Amino acid sequence: MTVDPFPPHPLHTPGIAAATADLTKVYGRGDTQVVALDRVSIGFREGEFTAIMGPSGCGKSTLMHCAAGLDSPSSGSVRIGTTELGTLGDRQLTRLRRDRIGFIFQAFNLLPTLTALENITLPLTLAGRRPERQWLDRVVSMVGLAQRLDHRPAQLSGGQQQRVAVARALVSRPAIVFGDEPTGNLDSRAGAEVLGFLRDSVRELGQTVVMVTHDPVAAGYADRVVFLSDGRLVDEMAHPTPDRVLDLMLRFSGGSPQTPACDARSRTS
Ligand SMILES: Nc1ncnc2c1ncn2[C@@H]1O[C@H](COP(=O)(O)OP(=O)(O)O)[C@@H](O)[C@H]1O
Ligand SMILES: [Mg+2]
Repeated sequence: MTVDPFPPHPLHTPGIAAATADLTKVYGRGDTQVVALDRVSIGFREGEFTAIMGPSGCGKSTLMHCAAGLDSPSSGSVRIGTTELGTLGDRQLTRLRRDRIGFIFQAFNLLPTLTALENITLPLTLAGRRPERQWLDRVVSMVGLAQRLDHRPAQLSGGQQQRVAVARALVSRPAIVFGDEPTGNLDSRAGAEVLGFLRDSVRELGQTVVMVTHDPVAAGYADRVVFLSDGRLVDEMAHPTPDRVLDLMLRFSGGSPQTPACDARSRTS
């Protein structure tokens, strides 16, 4: 008999890792009111790599922040596994984020005084947990950092720093990993490496990953792409390729992938 060295997380529920139902987010009020998300209902299946795409300002980050419990909905609901986030108090929410969600940001957000290893294990340290040695070794070797564990962020390239961030997101074996433009600050080679590691984490480790991107090449690493426009889900694509993604982006934007489709509102990215 073979024994799985990495049995499912005890809070694991089969099927859907996270879901939103009629998620609406309104910023401001009156003349300056912005409906950033308009009744978005979406599920993220376990063991699947989803890319969220859409023009700048159309609600991608807001969707990710609400789905990850970093921001609260104006109406509608969000669940991680079977837990409705709206039922949690602040401390429970903080704990859920720490224990069940991994984050990767565009700016790597590493602590400069800690080594790569200390950065990777920080979520566990904060939770008072010890790393599972086998799992840690597997994650570290997957992202190719075994020889760099005692380096500080300043001694690492941007690509290596983001690999530390990927390992940090995976180390607690979260229910879901969210990345907001995780390759936005990387050159194409380092970006491709990080995207490859994210895909490996889905294929080899069974991780669930949701990534915001505006790059069709990055979206091509995903199993599924969902398209947001003006705060609404407008389309989705299974088994995307960069060509097909670009084609759909061109159709949404009326010719140019750079043209925001929701230009009634001001925005940066
Ligand atoms: N904290 C905020 N206060 C007011 N408006 C916001 C805030 N965050 C985002 N918005 C607005 O909500 C809309 C969606 O923003 P965002 O989710 O950041 O879009 P994206 O990530 O797709 O570029 C934009 O019009 C943006 O200006
Ligand atoms: Mg954004």
